[in-house]
Amino acid sequence: MKWPLHGSNPQYLYQSMGVPLPDHYIDFSANINPLGPPPSLKEKWGQAFELINDYPDPKAYQFSIKAAEKEGLPVNWILPGNGGSELIALIARLLAGKRVLIVQPAFSEYEEACKANGCQIGYHILEEGKWELMSESIISELDHYDALFLCNPNNPTGTSFSRHAISRVLKESAAKNCFVIIDEAFYDFSEEVHSFASSIQTYPNLMVLRSMTKMYSIPGIRLGYAIAHPHVLKEMAVFQPHWSVNALALMAGEECLKANEHVRKTRRYIGMQRSRLVKFFQENGYEVSNFNVNFYLVRDSDYIDQLPLICFLLEHGIVPRHTYHFPGLEGRWIRLAIKREDENDRLMEVLAKWRTVK
Ligand SMILES: Cc1ncc(COP(=O)(O)O)c(C=O)c1O
Repeated sequence: MKWPLHGSNPQYLYQSMGVPLPDHYIDFSANINPLGPPPSLKEKWGQAFELINDYPDPKAYQFSIKAAEKEGLPVNWILPGNGGSELIALIARLLAGKRVLIVQPAFSEYEEACKANGCQIGYHILEEGKWELMSESIISELDHYDALFLCNPNNPTGTSFSRHAISRVLKESAAKNCFVIIDEAFYDFSEEVHSFASSIQTYPNLMVLRSMTKMYSIPGIRLGYAIAHPHVLKEMAVFQPHWSVNALALMAGEECLKANEHVRKTRRYIGMQRSRLVKFFQENGYEVSNFNVNFYLVRDSDYIDQLPLICFLLEHGIVPRHTYHFPGLEGRWIRLAIKREDENDRLMEVLAKWRTVK
């Protein structure tokens, strides 16, 4: 079976399963904010039309200033990109031919991008079910690597690593001259998560990645930024196409960075939905990851391979994210996003039905 590599665009999952795309479905495979973009962005959208008959600022200066203010850093410590994905591709270019360790299971683009640049890839596989960062075990491997990719909060597990464990790894990586990339694409969905952006000035071997896609629900626009020492960003920027970030993205990005109330509202909402879902999973015998963001791993432990559950969900118009490509998961779990309340209700209804028919 040829599984799609990413969530979203559910037609490809239906196609690969040979199941016809139903008229109505709910896409639980894309982990973006269920409350949508900040309302202020919609209000401004009409004005954006004027922006398209001129080139965007190739330095993305105004957006960078706003992002730098938010991070409490000088502006040259920020590099905007055409989504977090472009920034991952640029880092991988910088790491061409080097030895790269990836803490797995994790977002697949790290490996894809590093492979495309001839890197030698190693995995550090987290213990299934707990997915905790065993810092001493990673530290013992660092001598063999030039760079380390860490996703926190982690996609696909939805879990977060302890601040202490990451700090230990960072400190030892600096001593061992190993570059560390912490992808914080989902950090703002939970107050419990500690961002390492403030450690950048202490650790010149650190880069933190931000995506604007997830919290602000703008995946169609493509915007993210890297935070790192200016000399690292300068080397990366050499590989970036001119005008890589378009004018609409820059305008939207500035607007989103002001939307603090939307972020607070989202966190409250995710917290509430999380409690309802966890209660349901516990009462109905499903195993779920200890998540604190807007997505999670879940499984019916009567099955090792979750394929029967995937088929059942698709037939009922629920689109899950399969995990066949993730090292350390290999299809033993499915990933689901937190959606709107009525959509989460529908998910629980279908999962309750699965218990009675299988
Ligand atoms: C952990 C993580 N990082 C980065 C990205 C890239 O996001 P974007 O390119 O939309 O900013 C994704 C997208 O799914 C992701 O899950």
